[in-house]
Amino acid sequence: MSNTKKLYIETYGCQMNVSDSEIVGSIMKDIGYEQGNKAENADVIFINTCSIRDNAEQRVKKRLREIRILKKKNPNLTVGILGCMAERLKEKLMEEQEFVDLIVGPDAYRDLPKLIKTVETGRKAINVLLSEEETYAEIEPVRYGDNGISAYISIMRGCENWCTYCVVPFTRGKERSRSPITIVQEAQDLFNKGYKEVTLLGQNVNSYHWEEKEINFPKLLKMVAEVSPKLRVRFATSHPKDISDELIQAIASTWNICDYIHLPVQSGSTKMLKKMNRKYSREWYMERMIAIKKQIPDCGISTDIIAGFCTETEEDHQDTLSLMKWVEYDYAFMFKYSERPDTIAAKKFDDDIPEEVKSRRLQEIIKLQGELSLKRNQNDIGKTFEVLIEKVSKKSNLELAGRNSQNKMIVFPRKDYEPGDYVMVKVNTCTAATLIGEVVE
Ligand code: 5AD
Ligand code: SF4
Repeated sequence: MSNTKKLYIETYGCQMNVSDSEIVGSIMKDIGYEQGNKAENADVIFINTCSIRDNAEQRVKKRLREIRILKKKNPNLTVGILGCMAERLKEKLMEEQEFVDLIVGPDAYRDLPKLIKTVETGRKAINVLLSEEETYAEIEPVRYGDNGISAYISIMRGCENWCTYCVVPFTRGKERSRSPITIVQEAQDLFNKGYKEVTLLGQNVNSYHWEEKEINFPKLLKMVAEVSPKLRVRFATSHPKDISDELIQAIASTWNICDYIHLPVQSGSTKMLKKMNRKYSREWYMERMIAIKKQIPDCGISTDIIAGFCTETEEDHQDTLSLMKWVEYDYAFMFKYSERPDTIAAKKFDDDIPEEVKSRRLQEIIKLQGELSLKRNQNDIGKTFEVLIEKVSKKSNLELAGRNSQNKMIVFPRKDYEPGDYVMVKVNTCTAATLIGEVVE
């Protein structure tokens, strides 16, 4: 029997958290923990948590009630809470969840070996210090659960935009960029291992800067794209206030930088954008969109939208709907406003939109986005795209599925191709979520 200990990590929230769990996996591997895929037979369970909306926290709490039962059955089990909830609630979380052994914030993962030792001596351990430097630059993440084809690379951490609704500046601290040498090295290593796509991650990737060599985000993107023309490069997330012409130009002029931008608008009303402290207006966003569509005519565009932020009127809501129609988003992540403790909005504004109004507005936004997604997909019928095959289709093993540069999922008959291959696919039909086509030689 092997004497390696088993670690089970469950990840909630954003792509950044997925990437962080891979860093945690690597740190734990160095002290003899191997990744298992079941909470039931693990020696250590980590829950990497999200605080972005109240329902994200509620989901974690529900899961913790189940983990508590496992701990009751097996007192030797170590349970740790990582990530944004750990950072937001600190010791309070330890009091609330008395069975938890470890609380570790997003900048303290290097301390895990020491914290685990403390727990082994029968004590509880906590480290929620935020750092102004930590980027985990040279840690080679353990890749879990990905398809061996596309991977995340974290390029910066933290956020200092202070959107009034948002908890992230509190949970993830100051903005800092990771050394470009280590980023390119990680992309090269992934490519050598057979990966064909990397997504560069940060809360606000446009703010990336590495002063010693004056490398900004468009320059970094190009450096990563130079690893190989067969390596696709994506990125998330961008802030509309600093989508520069240089970035648009870099995407337009580099074949393997994907023609896809996730550009969270949050609201279509300038008055709401001001209240959210987004630092751009509806007109600015539209001007940037025109610049994108002019230089990258087929660019895939997605967004994030919040319904029912403080003081939002019917007119503000209509402004959001009309902007959505104007942009014609391919896809959107849509949320009801959820007040987060300590944020500027929680301190200064009244959460005054009734729940049923928030819900109704959100439903209208979701319905409209469904129509727009279908329209955008219908627009692709008859076109041929290069597709990177990711997997065998969920619905049928006679079909393969992959994405085009615009980030749209395309399903097509299997033939002799394998995940990881690039193929040209002609689109014959679609749903609102998927394009359906066939390989053309
Ligand atoms: N309530 C609802 N949605 C929020 N988001 C961030 N904070 C909140 C909040 N308090 C949304 C934004 C952001 C996405 C990651 O989550 O749309 O872009
Ligand atoms: Fe959630 Fe934001 Fe933390 Fe990601 S950074 S886990 S979205 S709160």
